[in-house]
Amino acid sequence: MPATDFLKRNREQHLEELKEWLRIPSVSAKSEHKGDTAQAAEWLAGRMREAGLQTVEVIPTEGHPVVLGEWRGAPEGAPTLLVYGHYDVQPAEPLDEWKSAPFEPEVRDGNLFARGSVDDKGQVYLHVKAVQAHLAENGTLPANVVFVIEGEEEVGSPNLAKFLQQNAQRLACDAVLISDTTMFAPGLPSITTGLRGMAYMEIRVQGPSVDLHSGAYGGAVVNPANALARIIAQLHDERGRVNIPGFYDRVRELTAEQRQGIAGLPFEEENLRKEVGAPKLGGEEGYGPLERIWARPTLDVNGLLSGYTGEGAKTVLPSKAMAKVSMRLVPDQDYKEVERMFIDHVQSLAPEGVTVEVLALHGGQPWYAEASGPVFDAAARALEGAWGRKPVFIREGGSIPIVQAFQETLGAPALLIGFGLPGENAHAPNEWMSVENFHVGAEAIARLYEELR
Ligand code: BES
Ligand code: ZN
Repeated sequence: MPATDFLKRNREQHLEELKEWLRIPSVSAKSEHKGDTAQAAEWLAGRMREAGLQTVEVIPTEGHPVVLGEWRGAPEGAPTLLVYGHYDVQPAEPLDEWKSAPFEPEVRDGNLFARGSVDDKGQVYLHVKAVQAHLAENGTLPANVVFVIEGEEEVGSPNLAKFLQQNAQRLACDAVLISDTTMFAPGLPSITTGLRGMAYMEIRVQGPSVDLHSGAYGGAVVNPANALARIIAQLHDERGRVNIPGFYDRVRELTAEQRQGIAGLPFEEENLRKEVGAPKLGGEEGYGPLERIWARPTLDVNGLLSGYTGEGAKTVLPSKAMAKVSMRLVPDQDYKEVERMFIDHVQSLAPEGVTVEVLALHGGQPWYAEASGPVFDAAARALEGAWGRKPVFIREGGSIPIVQAFQETLGAPALLIGFGLPGENAHAPNEWMSVENFHVGAEAIARLYEELR
């Protein structure tokens, strides 16, 4: 019997299981959720054992544990796939903007709403079910499989590179299969060939040692909030380019062929504008929205804090100000180099009268790969089989810091097949995953194994 029959028969059950996992608030960024995060790892390990994997271990790291699952019974000469994903989720705040509680999953209009539904528990779980389908229906799989599901992706994977190095032999594989991205449009299966890298920084500006009366002292003391605003304002030029010396030196320009490929995708700027709900889109001069998101680097303030922000007016000159700034990077930028440039440049902009401290919080390299070879061909056929349409090849603006490290440490190509959708609210209130994509995604992955036979 085809494995897809098993998936079709058990759709209800699989969705209920996923909901159970989503009820565990595995927020990696918050220490108060350390126990929940560990529990989410154990939960997954239990389901992997039920799925028929031969060895399943929850391996501790200096941070949250890695769930490692293996099935190695494929015929001699069969390929080995490594499935990577994450069971940690972003914080759910702001809570009052959720229509249903973030950790009480609910299906509305065919979409499953919960923190972590699409990023990334739903996308990880469909892989477990695809493997289970083969083992349950046929007692075997056409490829060996190793699952590496981590609990720290949303905080920059600080311990995974070391884990890969330490276990490189055990993790040897022919391809790294990842579902943690989106489809270009509903019903349009997509293979992602590029991700941006990341350099995440914090700027701390200190002025007077205590908050001051803004009338009694204002004008004679440098205001750290004003100073920080000035620094930030100087980080872009009028053309929307990042104003840090050397920032663009290693940026690979899009080729004419790549620009044509992007232009050929079914994309309406106005739809993107509506999706984000902004009055107008913006960005670096000379590039379209998809080019800006996929292939151009950025610098964005992610958070700002200073002074009085409560109700009404309070006359105060704050003693300090702070900003969180992320830079999304593209090939061939190097995040270590960019961190250095940022620190030096921001320091050079610091006015007298305040001290400025700049910290690098985490980083990851950008990734781009030519999608070719037998595994990519098999994936394209599997996606076409599941959705009845040939997949498109896209890039994405988000980051999965470990992808480049996988490629370097294990020497295996990464194959990114995402089942998210535009507007899925990842990292925001009301995150959802299409229930249809959860089920059809599992079928597509089951077919991928068939295609490797
Ligand atoms: N699933 C995302 C990556 C992603 C986002 C891919 C958007 C494609 C489009 C992943 O879980 C994520 O959020 N990554 C972080 C990494 C960061 C913490 C280093 C990101 O991109 O912000
Ligand atoms: Zn994420």
